Amino acid sequence: MTEILKADPQTIAQAASLIREGGLVAFGTETVYGLGALATSDAAVARIFAAKQRPRFNPLISHFASAEAAFAHVETTPLAQRLADAFWPGPLTMILPRNAHSDICDLATAGLPTIALRVPRGKTALALLREVGQPVAAPSANPSGRVSPSDAFHVLRNMHGHIDAILDSGPCSVGLESTVIDLSREVPFLLRPGGVTLEQLEAVCGTIRNPDDYATKLPASPGMLASHYAPALPVRLNAETAAPDEALLAFGPAPAGAGLVYNLSENADLEEAAARLFAGLRFLDSEGHRRGLRAIAVMAVPRHGLGLAIRDRLRRAASPRPMSGGDGDDEVESMIG
Ligand code: TXA
Ligand code: MG
Repeated sequence: MTEILKADPQTIAQAASLIREGGLVAFGTETVYGLGALATSDAAVARIFAAKQRPRFNPLISHFASAEAAFAHVETTPLAQRLADAFWPGPLTMILPRNAHSDICDLATAGLPTIALRVPRGKTALALLREVGQPVAAPSANPSGRVSPSDAFHVLRNMHGHIDAILDSGPCSVGLESTVIDLSREVPFLLRPGGVTLEQLEAVCGTIRNPDDYATKLPASPGMLASHYAPALPVRLNAETAAPDEALLAFGPAPAGAGLVYNLSENADLEEAAARLFAGLRFLDSEGHRRGLRAIAVMAVPRHGLGLAIRDRLRRAASPRPMSGGDGDDEVESMIG
């Protein structure tokens, strides 16, 4: 049974005790809904992988209520501290070498010598994390390889019956996952563009390697799957026109002719577009399918600000998928060989 809990102090306390007892609770953050479990318990984290039907054990982000609580698990650096001051709580995940005291379980880190840390700024998420008082591992609360949930309703549709509770805090304000930066290497390395933009990061870090050529590179992070966020309908990128048998994901003024249109932002506002991206993909996928449309055509989004993260997710949504059995994880595994 999955309990649906409208977020208030009492249900937050209830959700926290479910997590402390080893349960699985989906909760809203400012980025997307996470599927939370105690990061110190292999048994609890194993339930995440089962519920998501992840074919492989990708490392998960550990969530904390404060930078202090997060940094207690790693070898921190002055740069990490500066980034925390600038962006936490908020949509930034930092990868740092774990220290000898950390009790985060191996399944949460996939046995890596590093830990992914995040302090979200969603009010409900922060209150929940404070109440749990221990690290909470939480991937996005969607079945592996599918579109991330930016609303409790999306979680409900895919995860009902597979998890203990959903803590509903309404739609996510950012709507895209956190930016993941690896600080365990000699130079900071952007693993996943997200809610904090490259420009914002570079203002604090100096130059970071350009991430916008991911399309031609193997994934640098174990979870950076080529095919991801995949709707059921095929996705066609950089569309300038759309056919009557296509659904159109528009950005800015939309061309006429599409069978169905969802505009991410009529004013070409990247923040609005990011917040509406996953909901738009879901809508066009289900409604397009119902109307017998053949594909989702997607208009180009500019390469700056949140546009980088939007482009990254769209490219993954458009990537070729394995024909059967599992999702993109298998495909990437064989690419790595
Ligand atoms: O916004 C978000 O980050 C959401 C919310 C729920 O916080 N969470 C999320 O988690 O997107 P997930 O599991 O879907 O993505 C985590 C990413 C993956 O690409 C994973 O490979 C990477 O972080 N990651 C985690 N630990 C890592 C590590 N030690 N080294 C390299 N990459 C790591
Ligand atoms: Mg995810």
